[in-house]
Amino acid sequence: MNSLVTYQVQDSLALIGLARPPVNALGQPLRAALLQACEQADADPSVRAIVIYGTNGLFCAGADITEFGSPASFAAPDLPGLLVRLTAIDKPLVAAIGKLALGGGLELALACGYRIGEPKTRVGLPEINLGLLPGAGGTQRLPRLVGVQAALEMMISGAPMAANRALELGILDRLADSAEQLLQSACGYAHELIANHAPARPSEPFADPAKGLPADFFERYCLEQEPRWKSRLAPRLVFSAVQAACLLPLQQGLERELALFKQAEASRQSEALRHVFFAEREAGKIPGIDPSTALRPIAKVAVIGAGTMGGGIAMNFANAGIPVVLLERQGDALDRGLAHIRKTYAISLKRGKLTEAQLEQRMSLLSGTLEYADLADADLVIEAVFEQLSIKQEVFRQLDSVCKPGAILATNTSSLDVDQIAAVTARPQDVIGLHFFSPANVMRLLEVVKARETSAQVLATTLKMGRTIGKIPVVSGVCFGFIGNRMLEPYAREAHRLVLEGATPAQVDGVLTGLDLNMGVFSMLDLAGIDVNFLVRDANRAAIAHDDSYCRLGDELYSLGRYGQKTARGFYQYEGRERHNDYEVVALSERLAGELHVSRRPIEDAEIHARCLFMLINEGIQLLDEGIALRAGDIDLVWINGYGFPAHLGGPMFYAQQYGLDKVLAGIQHYRDTLGEYGRMWFTPAPLLERLVAAGKTTIERL
Ligand code: 3HC
Ligand code: NAI
Repeated sequence: MNSLVTYQVQDSLALIGLARPPVNALGQPLRAALLQACEQADADPSVRAIVIYGTNGLFCAGADITEFGSPASFAAPDLPGLLVRLTAIDKPLVAAIGKLALGGGLELALACGYRIGEPKTRVGLPEINLGLLPGAGGTQRLPRLVGVQAALEMMISGAPMAANRALELGILDRLADSAEQLLQSACGYAHELIANHAPARPSEPFADPAKGLPADFFERYCLEQEPRWKSRLAPRLVFSAVQAACLLPLQQGLERELALFKQAEASRQSEALRHVFFAEREAGKIPGIDPSTALRPIAKVAVIGAGTMGGGIAMNFANAGIPVVLLERQGDALDRGLAHIRKTYAISLKRGKLTEAQLEQRMSLLSGTLEYADLADADLVIEAVFEQLSIKQEVFRQLDSVCKPGAILATNTSSLDVDQIAAVTARPQDVIGLHFFSPANVMRLLEVVKARETSAQVLATTLKMGRTIGKIPVVSGVCFGFIGNRMLEPYAREAHRLVLEGATPAQVDGVLTGLDLNMGVFSMLDLAGIDVNFLVRDANRAAIAHDDSYCRLGDELYSLGRYGQKTARGFYQYEGRERHNDYEVVALSERLAGELHVSRRPIEDAEIHARCLFMLINEGIQLLDEGIALRAGDIDLVWINGYGFPAHLGGPMFYAQQYGLDKVLAGIQHYRDTLGEYGRMWFTPAPLLERLVAAGKTTIERL
């Protein structure tokens, strides 16, 4: 047997161990080895049952994602065929599922007649997150095992399921007492099956999955769910495959599933989502940091400022079981901050996402103080006070004097220079930017801003800490706006200008949400606050605003006190949460256009798409060239997790690649040449984009 599986026969049982670290991904070599092992066990008359397990304690994380889109994906033995072969073996097969069985890993377990887990086992069909559907029998076998509704829920959510729930549903037949006892319990189970003359496969609880389903089940399901799917293909394909499970016998259902899977695998959306999967893993790999970089322990955290961001940031740590002390200037601000946190948890409690005990446990990890001396034992301090350099520098001076040596001092600034903040301390190597996004307890993006002197240890520790609290940390260098907000700036600028030229906010937003972005520019500004946006712009006007029309509409709305949703008026009007177009904004745009000598005309949607998106992309490419972003994939993660860019488009950089870098460049050049002085001022292609196109490259990389 080759080294990818272990094989031994013990007491009438063939024990087949999957041994392809780290996650036993079912690439072609492992499939071949597994098939060979199963054939051997089938052919051996001394073997009466087979146990399949993971030699390193983990069962299997599914198909090998690196094979998708290449011939290796279906190279013989292909996974669906291998699993059909396993179901034909006339001996009981027991899957001993340690830690996890995901995707093809769970499908492998479903091809076994019997399944045993351990208390920490998680099972799931997360293919949808990769723009795929289960393609090795999952869409046909799972509905026959647990019924259509539970199966659909599992495949459409893609979420992993805990062992107890899997046991309730019948995905697991039993649980071993512990992970250590799993293999032994699996062998005991196999012996019981032999002793009881159990069939190779027990009968299916939902052999006819359509039976008992309401006649309009699929119609209703689709009606309820489709709006959430937007233009995503994978949920629709999952849905078709499950319908096939209800309409067709198993064999034909499997054929249908395979055809749908191949359609999904070949889709641009799946290619994009696979890119995102690997980008997330790449983001943690930073030059100068390796597994030998020492990490500092983070057992206690302090947050300065218990406002919107400070409160949300503190919750992340309490959620992860790490005690946090919040520091404010005055008692009432502190009380308000803590009360707001409790209120936010209470909403989760009401929604059933938290128990009363969990709420109290998390609150017990949060304490407040007005004294810097109480921060002396904190391992990590995150400052989230007002966005003003002098205030932040004063805070850092205080921290420098009270914090213990080795404490990490972080700022949540969104626009200030982290180097200037670090410079007021005697320990700039311990200072870093940790830019959370609002609401900080929800948003997954964490921009980790490496300042000039930030040490490798501090960077490595904060990256690890970010993952511990469930964030996707992405490293950025220091510049105005870091990666995300710096790209937002030209994108929002074009949106503003297009309205001056004749588009409406609703038209601009419609083009962007038509691409599946969560929100258009103007809805986002109304939500975030036109005042907040104005103040940052105003503080940096000299550096960023080089013409009179620059975000003028936003400036005017600010001066009119139209701050967005909070004042029920901004780029739109609001009645409660309902948004309406506002003719006054159109009239204001007409007036401003007249004053600024901007000629108005009907604007095509294609122009909105090109100007907003190409400027966004251009800035991202420039950031890569400057070394602010380490990789194009990092930029994609920032926009997907912080700004609602659809993951199934892969992020703005991947979108540009799929669109064609030459076309993006040609588009920028077109507007440079056709928009007069404005075009010449703003539509300058990033030099890296020009170099990439000149070199015939189709992917965005440093050159
Ligand atoms: N294929 C190939 N590589 C995989 C993989 C897979 N299915 N799952 C994980 N890996 C790799 C990762 O890329 C990473 O590689 P690296 O060290 O070189 O960066 C390494 O394994 C470890 O992964 P993580 O860093 O993500 O480790 P974690 O412990 O944080 O997470 C995990 C482990 C929960 C298994 C997570 O990796 C994961 O969610 N994997 C994907 C699971 C999945 O989507 N399975 C379905 C695949 S599609 C399928 O099965 C189709 C079938 O229906 C036909
Ligand atoms: P906020 O106004 O809601 O909260 C600031 C809090 O800091 C207030 O409670 C104030 O009392 C307190 N504070 C001010 N000076 C202090 C001091 N010297 N010592 C202790 N406490 C002090 O502001 P918000 O929105 O929470 O922003 C905080 C920081 O986070 C800013 O730097 C902001 O740029 C940044 N940020 C804000 C985001 C947002 O969407 N609101 C997003 C990302 C970053």
